Amino acid sequence: MSEKCKKVYITTPIYYVNDIPHIGHAYTTIIADTLAVYSRMAGLDTFFLTGTDEHGQKIEEAARKRDKLPKEYADEISARFRKLWDEFDISYDKFIRTTDEEHKRGVRKAFEKMYEKGDIYKDTYSGHYCISCETFFTETQLVDGEFCPECGKQTNIVEEESYFFRLSKYQDRLLRWYEENEKCILPKTRRNEVIRFVESGLEDLSITRTSFDWGVKLPKSLNDPAHVMYVWLDALMNYLTALGYGGDEKRMDYWPARVHLIGKDILRFHAIYWPAFLMSLDMPLPKHIAAHGWWTRNGEKMSKSKGNVIDPKEVVDAYGLENFRYFMLREVPFGGDGDFSQKALMDRINSDLGNDLGNLLNRLIGMSAKYSEGEIDSQNLREYYSKELEAVNDSIGRLEPLLFDMQLHRYLEELWRPLSIANKAIDSYQPWVMMKEGKTEEALALNALIANILAKVAIMLHPVMPRTTEKIASALSFVIDNESYRKYIKGDELLPKFTIERIPPLFPRIEEVRMEEKGAVKEEKKSPKGKGSDKGASAEESDGVISIEQFFQTTLKVGTVVEAHEVPKSKKLLRLMVDLGEDSPRQIVAGIKEWYSPADLVDTQVCVVANLKPAKLMGMLSEGMILAAKDDSGLSLVRPEKPKKAGTVIG
Ligand code: MSP
Repeated sequence: MSEKCKKVYITTPIYYVNDIPHIGHAYTTIIADTLAVYSRMAGLDTFFLTGTDEHGQKIEEAARKRDKLPKEYADEISARFRKLWDEFDISYDKFIRTTDEEHKRGVRKAFEKMYEKGDIYKDTYSGHYCISCETFFTETQLVDGEFCPECGKQTNIVEEESYFFRLSKYQDRLLRWYEENEKCILPKTRRNEVIRFVESGLEDLSITRTSFDWGVKLPKSLNDPAHVMYVWLDALMNYLTALGYGGDEKRMDYWPARVHLIGKDILRFHAIYWPAFLMSLDMPLPKHIAAHGWWTRNGEKMSKSKGNVIDPKEVVDAYGLENFRYFMLREVPFGGDGDFSQKALMDRINSDLGNDLGNLLNRLIGMSAKYSEGEIDSQNLREYYSKELEAVNDSIGRLEPLLFDMQLHRYLEELWRPLSIANKAIDSYQPWVMMKEGKTEEALALNALIANILAKVAIMLHPVMPRTTEKIASALSFVIDNESYRKYIKGDELLPKFTIERIPPLFPRIEEVRMEEKGAVKEEKKSPKGKGSDKGASAEESDGVISIEQFFQTTLKVGTVVEAHEVPKSKKLLRLMVDLGEDSPRQIVAGIKEWYSPADLVDTQVCVVANLKPAKLMGMLSEGMILAAKDDSGLSLVRPEKPKKAGTVIG
């Protein structure tokens, strides 16, 4: 890592509170924690941020489903995230919540600044909105004209007044940034993807909503209380507000971030919107945006419906926190997708950790007890084993850049080389033979070589396995901190004379799986999935399959259209009055004007989703949704085969 950069700011995404923590969240957080522990050990002034993303329609709906107020619900889930990270010993310096007052103040400040700069303007938005991804899509981006290209769920047509951010204005500057900063997006393949996306043209971004309430209000100076901010503007700003942006500015000197760790599904927001917002705010851009891949389970996507979502707490309880950390970082090349299987986890524990590392320490404890009453002295080490020591130092010297280039699996791979040098040295020099032959000095120097290798490995493994490596260090009579890092990693020092402490084996062999295998459903269920969708592995995802109870949460009714009108200025919308057998007809705004004229509709019957939360489209209240089917030949309304009484329930 560059010595110039003394302050290191590391962030995780802030997690949505619409669901409880799962393995994907744990993965991002553990990577970030590893980097933070490393940079603190390296003596860098480090600030590690995590937190929860609590606004938006998705959260509002999740709360409503549970009969809770959004804040009440957010408090509950946010606390669960925090508790889990505390149980996992995550060394975050701040846990931010987007409902924090200081955060909201900072977001409003940023909005004001962008507005004053002329980067925000007001217009009307018409587009397809996916609530699950909290994202607008253009018609051409949709799958089959209606499904979200990210998660495969149904999108809704939303037409409303909105403030826009002039994203298009920043297209060239963004491209220049990607070109001039080879490592701004990691891994590099992802950078190419982003460049291609931006080159294909950026549209201005709708950054406020009027159809729901649960969000940050606009600055008072705009005097527009109907709008709340788009969740992604609100959420991304957390990286600045956590440092005091728009408030006390106390920690602003940590900016720019050394790395924003994210999953590949949220790259676009971080690699395009976020730098553009920062440019508009005249702020420097982050050094790296690093996107990791997705976890599957036994080769299958994780989903609630399959019941195979991995609870990280369960894994940790069964296999140990640090073994889990090691496994996650070692098993998958950063950026690639990874598969969680208990077998793979057990193999890593038994083989890498147990055989290569744990046994080496045991061997050393045994040999030194036998040959020197546990005393280890490095004084003759260089004389006999300088070749081995040099090879070890070469390996150790290659590690640091790998870590900050996010090559964490290679970091661990390279870190195992010294262990293999140590194990090989014992096998080939056979100290027990040396002892028999009276070569005591050589045999004891070999013990010192092993001890020094273990010390170096323990220090460099410390960020991944903090407690375990502290135990190794304590057996070797030293403490892992910046001083030992400087002496044994950056410097050329050897351990002083000490007596090794006998400690119990660190990685007892695991013979049998410790968790019940859940949801081993093999067949692929049919669902309207988007192509190349990755979001599916999320815990919140139901993979399109629902239970009958879930289906009956939707009330479908037959309605009779009693009036139909064009909507001024709208190419897509019609305003219908539909009789659902209630006291008065309901107003429903539908995006069907391209296929139906008002006259086609009056006195015909339609099928209506009757318990949908009312939404505003172009300022008009819409109290339901009309069912229609659309293919290449156009759109057709779904209607009962024979006339039915208005209000008849379908199902
Ligand atoms: N709230 C937004 C982030 C805003 S950051 C300004 C969000 N939250 S999330 O809770 O849905 O996801 C958070 C992180 O978890 C993402 O980085 C995502 O990639 C990661 N994962 C969710 N499921 C995952 C897997 N199955 N595997 C690996 N990581 C995945 O997005």
